[in-house]
Amino acid sequence: MVSSKNKNMRIGILTAGGDCPGINAAIRGVGKTAITEYGMKVFGIASGFSGLINMEYAELDEPQLSGILTHGGTILGTSREKPYKTGGPNQVDKPKLIKKNYRDMGLDALVVIGGNGTQKTAAQLSAEGLNVIGIPKTIDNDVFGTDITFGFDSAVWIGTDAIDRLHTTANSHKRIMIIELMGHHAGWLALYSGIAGGGDVILIPEIPYDDKVVARYLEKRSKNKKAYSIVVVAEGIAKPKGVSAAHHIAQIIQKNTGLETRETILGYIQRGGSPSPMDRILATRYGAYAVELIADGKFGVMVSSKGDNITSVPLAEVGGKLRLVPPDHALIRKSRKMGISFGER
Ligand code: F6P
Repeated sequence: MVSSKNKNMRIGILTAGGDCPGINAAIRGVGKTAITEYGMKVFGIASGFSGLINMEYAELDEPQLSGILTHGGTILGTSREKPYKTGGPNQVDKPKLIKKNYRDMGLDALVVIGGNGTQKTAAQLSAEGLNVIGIPKTIDNDVFGTDITFGFDSAVWIGTDAIDRLHTTANSHKRIMIIELMGHHAGWLALYSGIAGGGDVILIPEIPYDDKVVARYLEKRSKNKKAYSIVVVAEGIAKPKGVSAAHHIAQIIQKNTGLETRETILGYIQRGGSPSPMDRILATRYGAYAVELIADGKFGVMVSSKGDNITSVPLAEVGGKLRLVPPDHALIRKSRKMGISFGER
């Protein structure tokens, strides 16, 4: 039964920042709940905040939302447009334009699917009076205010599969294999993939590493008849500018141990393809919950996962903050006891 209170409410939805598996599942969760349960009208805005600035949008009907659950990427497109970033000549007042376009489109609410930067913009727009709801997504899992973002589980699967494959070739050639995973400033993806894939050394930005410690650890393994080793590095670890994390660590190992070393940078493969079942479920729950918040008139919040519950946190408390791996995380403490090295002195 469509509730008459919310009938014909107009909600806009956009996806901003780097894409990840599960975005289409979230769009579907928002759209189907809004249309089927509440009789709302849903408008897909193209290419993140650029679409809101340039008025590129189209109504999404229910049939258009069918068949996208399993698809990677985002049917709306995305961009890294940051409307509050100033500078450059002849700058238009983008936030002002966004507010005008929001009104001209007749929107009652705006759902913004994105990572940290996007949630910050969402908080700013909300502070300026727009009815904004944030939904957290990113393979980095570093959005403040939620236990988990969708995209992360799929990326851990991809990272783990890559490490599994490196094991067999490392063993054949008796080599040190280095694999660099994404994560921006956070080490979640390297930590989880590294543990799931049985990495021997895991280097993350949150734990400063010592070159000599890494080298000595690998030498010791080699002397103890461990024919090969897997070193998992997060892209955000400390390293000289202009060099990849994997290459930097490879050079250190080669120079300090003489062991034959190869490097792999997994790159954008981690962001592509179909979402994992857990990400499909999380994204669907986030999407549906965002619409329930709109129906209840609760705005200025980000949908969030706390334990088993889906809840919400004020956008003002989220914007501009990062959720990094605590260096004393339980997984790290357990892994240390198993002899996994995090490279610390
Ligand atoms: O935030 C997701 C992410 O994939 C990071 O892991 C990575 O550092 C960054 O985006 C890459 O950004 P871009 O898509 O702009 O190359």
